[in-house]
Amino acid sequence: MASSIIIKTQADIEGIRKSSELAAKVLKFIEPHIQVGISTNEINQLCHDFIQQNGARPSPLGYKGFPKSICTSVNQVVCHGIPDEYCLREGDIIKVDVTTHLNGYHGDTCKTFGVGKISRAARDLMKATQECLQIGIEQVKPGGHFGDIGAAIQKYAQDNGYSVVKEYGGHGIGKDFHEDPHVPHVGKYGTGAEFKEGMVFTIEPMINIGKSEIVLLDDEWTVETNDGKLSAQYEHTVAVTATGAEILSKI
Ligand code: MF3
Ligand code: CO
Ligand code: CO
Repeated sequence: MASSIIIKTQADIEGIRKSSELAAKVLKFIEPHIQVGISTNEINQLCHDFIQQNGARPSPLGYKGFPKSICTSVNQVVCHGIPDEYCLREGDIIKVDVTTHLNGYHGDTCKTFGVGKISRAARDLMKATQECLQIGIEQVKPGGHFGDIGAAIQKYAQDNGYSVVKEYGGHGIGKDFHEDPHVPHVGKYGTGAEFKEGMVFTIEPMINIGKSEIVLLDDEWTVETNDGKLSAQYEHTVAVTATGAEILSKI
């Protein structure tokens, strides 16, 4: 079936903005807790309580059977890591991916944090991944195409010696957690649907130090790099405006 991309009203965009800002606040709230010794379960509980205290619900909890409120993906885990008893160690990197459901609208954002002193390689990967997200966002303007996002991200990542995960991408978002379209982080300029003012979607590149291949663990959620090397991710929820893109998940 052809993808059907919903054009949001101003009221919808305001609703998604409120939810996305809350998700961004959760990341800010959790940052000082990202320390050696804290378990990913504890991080999950802190985020869960903060989301509830702010009148929202964590979108992942129960989503297609996902058992926790956020995703915590450590080191070689690419995405969809399930919080558990693992306690963070010096030098780890952890992707915390938060999605909130507030007044009927979802907002989705993810950041990579370093634990204590991290390696130069990890720091460089994080910086490049953040730049990939930024460059992806810069492609968004009416008249452009979704393929422009992936083309720009893929070029930047590969020019810096990194690889891009192809199997997972961004997504439309609004009243549903995952809406059309799928937003690839690799691709060709000028391909895919055209950006139109009022579209709202996420960009969330997963960038690997080693090869792009991934494996799905037996829990059917956790995605890891096949070579066991580090992966980083950043995500924003963005809206297409008359002249470009507006980041909704920032505070
Ligand atoms: N937040 C993730 C995304 O960016 C999706 C997580 S789905 C879950 O799309 F079920 F694993 F939570
Ligand atoms: Co997302
Ligand atoms: Co997310």
